[in-house]
Amino acid sequence: MCGIVGYTGSGRAVDFVLAGLEKLEYRGYDSAGIAYLDGGELRIVRAVGRVDDLRKKIPAEAARAHCAIGHTRWATHGRPTEINAHPHCDNKGRFAVVHNGIIENYAKLRTELEHQGCRFVSETDTEVAAHLIAKMHETMKDFPRAVERAIAVIEGSFAFAVLSTEHPGAIVATRRGSPLVAGFGRGEMLVASDALPIVPTTPDVFYLQDDQVIEVQAERIEMGGKPVQPSERIRWTAEDAERGGYEHFMLKEIYEQSGALRKLASKLIADPGTAGDPGTFPAFHLNGAPLSKDYLRGVSRVVVVAQGTSYHAGMIARNMIERTARVPVQVEYGSDFRYRSPIIDPSVLVLGISQSGETADTLGAVRLAKERGCKTLAVLNVQGSTMARESDGVVLMHVGPEIGVASTKAFTGQIAALYVFAIHFGILRGTLSAPEARRRVDDLLQVSIRVDEALAQNDHIKQVALKYKDAEHALYLGRGTGFPLALEGALKLKEVSYIHAEGIDAAEMKHGPIALIDEKMPVFVLALQGRRYDKIVSNIQEVKARGGRVIAIASHDDRAIEARVDDVIRVHDDRGIVNSIVCAIPLQLIAYHIAVALGRDVDKPRNLAKSVTVE
Ligand code: AGP
Repeated sequence: MCGIVGYTGSGRAVDFVLAGLEKLEYRGYDSAGIAYLDGGELRIVRAVGRVDDLRKKIPAEAARAHCAIGHTRWATHGRPTEINAHPHCDNKGRFAVVHNGIIENYAKLRTELEHQGCRFVSETDTEVAAHLIAKMHETMKDFPRAVERAIAVIEGSFAFAVLSTEHPGAIVATRRGSPLVAGFGRGEMLVASDALPIVPTTPDVFYLQDDQVIEVQAERIEMGGKPVQPSERIRWTAEDAERGGYEHFMLKEIYEQSGALRKLASKLIADPGTAGDPGTFPAFHLNGAPLSKDYLRGVSRVVVVAQGTSYHAGMIARNMIERTARVPVQVEYGSDFRYRSPIIDPSVLVLGISQSGETADTLGAVRLAKERGCKTLAVLNVQGSTMARESDGVVLMHVGPEIGVASTKAFTGQIAALYVFAIHFGILRGTLSAPEARRRVDDLLQVSIRVDEALAQNDHIKQVALKYKDAEHALYLGRGTGFPLALEGALKLKEVSYIHAEGIDAAEMKHGPIALIDEKMPVFVLALQGRRYDKIVSNIQEVKARGGRVIAIASHDDRAIEARVDDVIRVHDDRGIVNSIVCAIPLQLIAYHIAVALGRDVDKPRNLAKSVTVE
């Protein structure tokens, strides 16, 4: 996913933009570039590789510039080369454009523009925008209007920041489908793909909505000639977004989970003592009104839509909600749901789960649900995100910015937030008694203690993990809630270590996967004691009988497991579904330590982006 940063004001624009691009590196990229105005001239510098490579190519006189835009590129159209890196400009060098998204009709537009005499130098879709804006400007000489006219003929998704020699000191910014946020400093204004580059300067931001076009000057931001004011105040600080002495963001965010869960509970549970009272859970609203008993009693079904780790959290939420609210829950990949013409009606409640709130497929599914008259409730971590604005209700996880591409604290935050929702849902539907609600709230309030206990085993977990760092393949097995955990453990391992890993419902082993078992295949098993414990023990014995090596995530008080497996990692087992949060810790640390041992780029794994804003 590309990153955009723009600055105009009294400060050193190039320094700010470069620092801002570094804060967006977590999004994943393969090249970078910057455009700035030096006197009346447009200067463009681009580099394949990292922001540091770009910095080395920028001349000293760039320090004079007070207006600049920069970009980190995650290649979609055109190879990751210097000529394809952004910014792109028109043939007269008057307009420079940076872009996040995909211009779906770029081939048609390019042909038309070439017929009009435009000469293209790159393979990118973005270059079309630079020529279009220049063309539109020729007839109207109004910078924002020229951009408005250009985006009117563009199909697809975009966030654009544009600067021009014709309007020194101004940046025009707009978006459709890809996020863009403006920041209000003193004598300086900023735009960026998300709030991370902005927060060190100001917490006061304005999240653009689709097709809004703003003109940013050093002292003001305007839309349609009228001043724009901040729409949100960011609640977390720049320190929250720093590595804080950890070697990687991923490790920091793994260790932040107990504190994040305590904060989440404090935000979502008003008074644990009144757990049987709907008023205990004030965070759940639809269209500005608290979730009502009447509406929830009329809900015929819940559909969860998500991708990746968020989908796994949704699978765990299904078990929670079906237990407390006795409502059928189906969990769908947004990418499938949105194109399947699903059977839904206004009695269906759609839960969109997303850390970023920008995942294209989840967003597409939420939009379809709204078109069909369903209420949509989003469980998110980013305030002001597109999904936050387009859903009927939003439950923020409050776990702080998650920078590492591999989702960790967002996963456990999603489980916790959905757990609170399941309790609230059950109380309002009258299917969960006050004592039961209270017990579940108590489980959640102490889960951060269990998480700390699991984190305290980091050395042991690392020692176990490193025994398997040279495996070429790995299996993760679980039953019930252990199955989504198996999927999540496998996803963590493959996305940060590049080892092929597969999560399987252990009941499926005899239906095929057991053929994979040999002495080279480590098998990680979610083996907490519960209703299906005996079945999972059978799976372990089947694997051992075929020479497989078994690593069990086991209950703290399970004395029999030791003799059955090769390695044991214990978690405190309170026999509740909230255990799924605690089991996530060893799964995350196993993946982390193996990836570090293999020398992987843990926070920015190859080929991956933090948020998949394109399909
Ligand atoms: C998980 O570690 C990955 N980063 C990825 O699967 C992610 O969970 C998925 O892309 C969904 O992202 P979202 O939660 O921001 O919608």
